[in-house]
This record gives sequence, structure tokens and C-alpha cells, in this order.
Amino acid sequence: MIPTLEWTSAGVNFLDQTKLPLEETYVLATDYKQVATVIRDMIVRGAPAIGVSAAMGVAIGIDRSTASTIAELDEEVAAICDLLAGTRPTAVNLFWGIGQVRDLYNQLAAANTPIPEIKAAVVALSQQLYDEDIANCRKLGAFGAELMPQEGTVLTHCNAGALATCGYGTALGVIRGAIEAGHKIDVLADETRPFLQGARLTAWELMKDNIPTTVLCDNMSAHLMSKGRIQAVVVGADRIAANGDTANKIGTYGVSILAKEHGIPFYVAAPFNTIDLETATGEGIPIEQRNAREVTHSNGIQMTPDGVGIENPAFDVTPAKYITAIITERGVLRAPFGESIRAMAEQGATA
Ligand code: MRU
Repeated sequence: MIPTLEWTSAGVNFLDQTKLPLEETYVLATDYKQVATVIRDMIVRGAPAIGVSAAMGVAIGIDRSTASTIAELDEEVAAICDLLAGTRPTAVNLFWGIGQVRDLYNQLAAANTPIPEIKAAVVALSQQLYDEDIANCRKLGAFGAELMPQEGTVLTHCNAGALATCGYGTALGVIRGAIEAGHKIDVLADETRPFLQGARLTAWELMKDNIPTTVLCDNMSAHLMSKGRIQAVVVGADRIAANGDTANKIGTYGVSILAKEHGIPFYVAAPFNTIDLETATGEGIPIEQRNAREVTHSNGIQMTPDGVGIENPAFDVTPAKYITAIITERGVLRAPFGESIRAMAEQGATA
């Protein structure tokens, strides 16, 4: 299994995704501030992986605290959560992960639980979230497999694989699930400018699994669709609004329109915790703007003239009307998504 991140007694160990595919190196975060830096600098990235990393960040912050009273610890926990919450704004999983550990902390602190017991409980929870993420990916992979062509080519954008989760992946989990179920699938990976998650990461992890993979530039999929070379599209998500509008890596929106035009099914695969019931539509999803240097430079080499204007939104929103289905670990959601999402959330609440 690809070790995206791992809790160890020395700290949280992250595979450095900024160095892939050329170097397989690790960054050990020994305190919560380092975990925040790892998330902000995209050493770890991908919504589910960010969520669990943030949960581990809160857990390591509490675990390493020298506070001797709950009142002191309360103040530290607030600072830890604030720092981690400020790292990346779009993936709702970040706030979910922080919230899971903070809620448990608040509960135990309110009951005056001894601090060593609180520490053990929050560390155990962060590891439980890690295990659940892998289990969720496998479940949604099995649901999604049934939607994949028996034989054909599937396009994906960005990296929604093992590297973007604690293992197995969401969009790539669906592809892995289909291949495990006997489908003959090969993958087209959009390179995903400017950070190249497709070219660097999706290609790297699929090749490790011997899944036939071809990288294409982001502007090539319309041509391939028009030639009948793509049978389905499957992507991940950073935040799904209550009406099904979906934020994912910049460029996803364009791919969804192309898929619709060519009559190709367009699937979103994500764990249910990527659905943000508090955000009514895609309009309300904050879009991270990243550093201009990601666009102006490639591997340290300047590609654009000095002083030119630069845009670098890291995500865009695909309107629900372009989405054929949303694949979650609880099952497959179909339009009208507002209703299907609400029904699934209510079922989950009573389960
Ligand atoms: O900026 P990134 O690399 O964190 O963006 C990642 C994506 O957009 C993924 O498609 C999304 O997080 C889903 S990952 C299972």
C-alpha cells in the first residue's frame, strides 16, 4: 500500500508529494505547526488526506501539550484548531477532521477527564479516522465499479487516488474497484496544470499498480472525446454543496461540460464527509487562490514574461447538472441531488 501518511511514535510521517515522481522521500512532522506547514505546502494534499492529516494535527498538538490544567489546554486547543483551519480553504474535509477531534476533546474536557486519558483518546480517534477513510474508499470503489464500462478508457483529472486519501483513493478507488471486479480499463490522466497532480501523482501511483495509464495535456480531452476514445470520466471532490454542485481541482468544470457535449457519463467519487450540508450551492464554496509562481515557473524555470498578470484559482465548481452520479461509501446519489443528498444524510443520522 502507498504510505501517504502515518502516525508514528516520533510524529506524523508524510510522503512528500511535492517530490514525486522523481524522489520518494518523507517529511516527519513532530508538532502541530509542522503538520499545518505540510498541509499548506501541499506535501500532503487531496481532500480526504487533508482531513485526516488535520485530525492528526490536532491530536499531536494535544498529545505534545505540557498544559497541566484543562483551562490551559482549552486555550491551546483553540490555537491549534485555528492554525490548522487557516491552511487551505476549499476542502471541507479539513474542517471536518479538525471538528471530529475538537468535539471529542470538548466532550472529555467538559467531563473533567484526566489529561493523559484525553491525550490517549484523541490520538486513538485520529487513527480510527485514518482506518475509516481507507474502508470508505474501498466501499465507494465497489459501488462505483458497477458504473464503469466493462471495457474501455476512463478519464480522470487531478489525483484522487491513494495519495489523496489514506489509501486506495476515491476516483482511482472506483477504477481500482472496477479492475478488481474484472473490468478491462485503461486510464487517461489529465496532467492538471499548474501543480501537475495528474502527470506526477496519478501516473506514478497507477503505474505502481500496473494499471495502464496515459498522460495527456489538459487541452487534449475534447479531441479524444470527439474521436470516441473516452467511455467515462471519474473525478474526486473537495467540497460538494447541498445541491450537488462540486468543487474539485481547477479544470474539472471544463471536463464536465465536454463530457456532457459528447454524451459521456461524468462521475464524482467522494466520501460522504466531503458533502457540506451547510453550503446550499456551489456559489458558497470558497476557492483557494494559490501563489502566482506555480503558473509562472515550471521546475524552477520561468515560463512567462516578467510582470505579466497571473490567475491561479486552485479549484472550480462543476454545477450539479453536469454530474451523472455522485459515488459515496453509503451508495450512489443521482439527480435531483438536493433530495438524494438530504435523504442519505437523514438515513446516516438515524443509522
Ligand atoms: O490541490 P489538491 O491537490 O489538494 O487538490 C486535490 C483535488 O482536487 C482532488 O481531486 C480532491 O481533493 C479529491 S481527492 C480524493
